[in-house]
Amino acid sequence: MNHIQLKNISKIYNANSTQAQSAMALLAEGMDSVAVKEQTGYSVGLYDINLNIKAGELHCIMGLSGSGKSTLIRHLNRLIDPTSGEIWVNTTVNTKTHAKDNTQANTAPVDESSSNAINILELNDKQLQHYRQQTVSMVFQHFGLVPHMTVMQNVAYGLRVRKMSVSERHEIARYWLNEVGLTNLEHSYPDELSGGMQQRVGLARALATDNPILLMDEAFSALDPLIRAQLQDQLLELQERLNKTIVFITHDIDEAIKVGQRISILNGGRLIQTGTPNDLRHNPADDYVEQFMRAKA
Ligand SMILES: Nc1ncnc2c1ncn2[C@@H]1O[C@H](COP(=O)(O)OP(=O)(O)OP(=O)(O)O)[C@@H](O)[C@H]1O
Ligand SMILES: [Mg+2]
Repeated sequence: MNHIQLKNISKIYNANSTQAQSAMALLAEGMDSVAVKEQTGYSVGLYDINLNIKAGELHCIMGLSGSGKSTLIRHLNRLIDPTSGEIWVNTTVNTKTHAKDNTQANTAPVDESSSNAINILELNDKQLQHYRQQTVSMVFQHFGLVPHMTVMQNVAYGLRVRKMSVSERHEIARYWLNEVGLTNLEHSYPDELSGGMQQRVGLARALATDNPILLMDEAFSALDPLIRAQLQDQLLELQERLNKTIVFITHDIDEAIKVGQRISILNGGRLIQTGTPNDLRHNPADDYVEQFMRAKA
């Protein structure tokens, strides 16, 4: 059951539509993004991405620097709009967890022919605001906490904009701080916390909105290896219960193998392969994938 579907998504940066078409014509002939940049001057973010992300899966997007990972994930909350293509999201997938009752999770039928799926590129400003408040949350690489707000205020922020009462949002924030292993720190400020603790706050803030889709762009990459491993474990433990649809960006194949149920490999803006770690290990689509998976038992 798909939650998110990208259809023929291409992104050519800093080009008008005629210029983008000329770059895409070269890409269609098989030219790689470096050569396209050399010949046309335009940067290829993504080319012709078709990707289905299932409801409730932890899906890793992996690739070297510049392969298009951030470009891809930023399309999902429309921080970036594509040059062409469609993005369908089922807005009725239910992974609500505050009631600690997961029985209704992921029960909706999903594909774009269902009336429940929307092409998010067609949302107007108000609908987009609603989509960002109710459907997608993001955890950032450098935590993105508001420095003059306490831990509690940071976590409760997404609920404040929903006009929830102070007592209710503080109760929810406290619940999620506890879930990520941060108790008794609610009155601290971000700069009083270690990096690992700050990212736990970032995670609690994203989870507190209870949105079904969690976007994580290199969320653990800034952390020391030991702390990073702890956060990975914590995420996996939470996900066992939460059943969110998580899109997790990493350039670290070990991290992708550890946390990802499926992994999509990007290279030069193209999607090379999507599969389970075992699929990639046993049937790599090309040398690039094979090199990543080599020696990964
Ligand atoms: N705002 C922008 N303007 C022009 N080109 C851009 C812009 N953002 C990204 N690009 C280009 O698009 C390509 C993909 O970049 P992207 O940031 O998505 O890669 P990434 O896989 O996230 O890399 P990293 O691992 O370094 O974060 C790169 O060639 C990059 O230079
Ligand atoms: Mg990036």
